[in-house]
Amino acid sequence: MPLGHEVAHLSHIELLTPVLDKSVAFFVDYLGMTVVGGDDNKVYVRAFDDYEHHTLTLVAHSSSGIGRTNLRASSPDALARRVKALEGAGRSSGWQDGDPGYGPTFVFQDPDGHELGLYWESERYNPTKDLRPALKNQAQRYPGRGVSVRRLDHVNYLGADVEANRDFLRDQLGALVTEQIVLDDGSIAGTWTTFTNKGYDAVYTRDRTGTTGRLHHIAFATDTREDILRAADIALEQGVFIESGPHKHAIQQTFFLYVYEPGGNRIELCNAGARLVLAPDWETINWTEAERAKGQAWGMKTIESFHTHGTPPVGNT
Ligand SMILES: [Fe+2]
Repeated sequence: MPLGHEVAHLSHIELLTPVLDKSVAFFVDYLGMTVVGGDDNKVYVRAFDDYEHHTLTLVAHSSSGIGRTNLRASSPDALARRVKALEGAGRSSGWQDGDPGYGPTFVFQDPDGHELGLYWESERYNPTKDLRPALKNQAQRYPGRGVSVRRLDHVNYLGADVEANRDFLRDQLGALVTEQIVLDDGSIAGTWTTFTNKGYDAVYTRDRTGTTGRLHHIAFATDTREDILRAADIALEQGVFIESGPHKHAIQQTFFLYVYEPGGNRIELCNAGARLVLAPDWETINWTEAERAKGQAWGMKTIESFHTHGTPPVGNT
């Protein structure tokens, strides 16, 4: 029996960087995000149409990688139910104060060791006068700077055991498994799961190094496919490293561009068009090895570093 809509959405994520100032400049100048606070060791930035206080916390660290991923519960009752279940599953680190703008946050780990937080209380972002939008149904003025990403879209973790992490999101948090990669030996090499009507919010793909707790990428949504092409042009102008794209994925049909921010973390700009998952009895789409071998949607071969680069780096990856 599916759990139902216990988690509302992906909210705010900690991204670790060994070059904090350069990473902040990337998110502000290239992605068009806005700094809303912080200190010498962490900086809060937001995308213009995220309704909460901030989208990312950039954290000064010895390496790249991902810190805590925070999810908003669908209601106070849903939060209480999930806390009870997570404590029962032995994955709890207990309650902590939330970031600025966020209430008490229940901290726990997925089977791979990625840290997650779940909370209900959240302040609506209140823009200063110079950032106030013309239309009251938008969180913040459109920045018109760089890519001008609208909102956080998804996170793609690397995982040593993809199936265990998929089961955890489905059974403990109520995620729907929309698509996955099933290898010829029956094992699962990637899973795309959603808490919303978007095709996916959280992804696990197999970490070929067998390491746990790493990040493949985080992604931001643009309004149009044209924005992705423009993002490539702006990357060229600003000296941002383009790893791959613009192309179209077969899985989830996302039009994409992958770049690296200065700290080494992979960032995706994505546009899934009007595609939504509406069927309450959605059947998971399984992609075979032979289908994956065809490459991206238009037959472009997937670049090798996409299979090897994760953060923090291990060995020579
Ligand atoms: Fe992605």
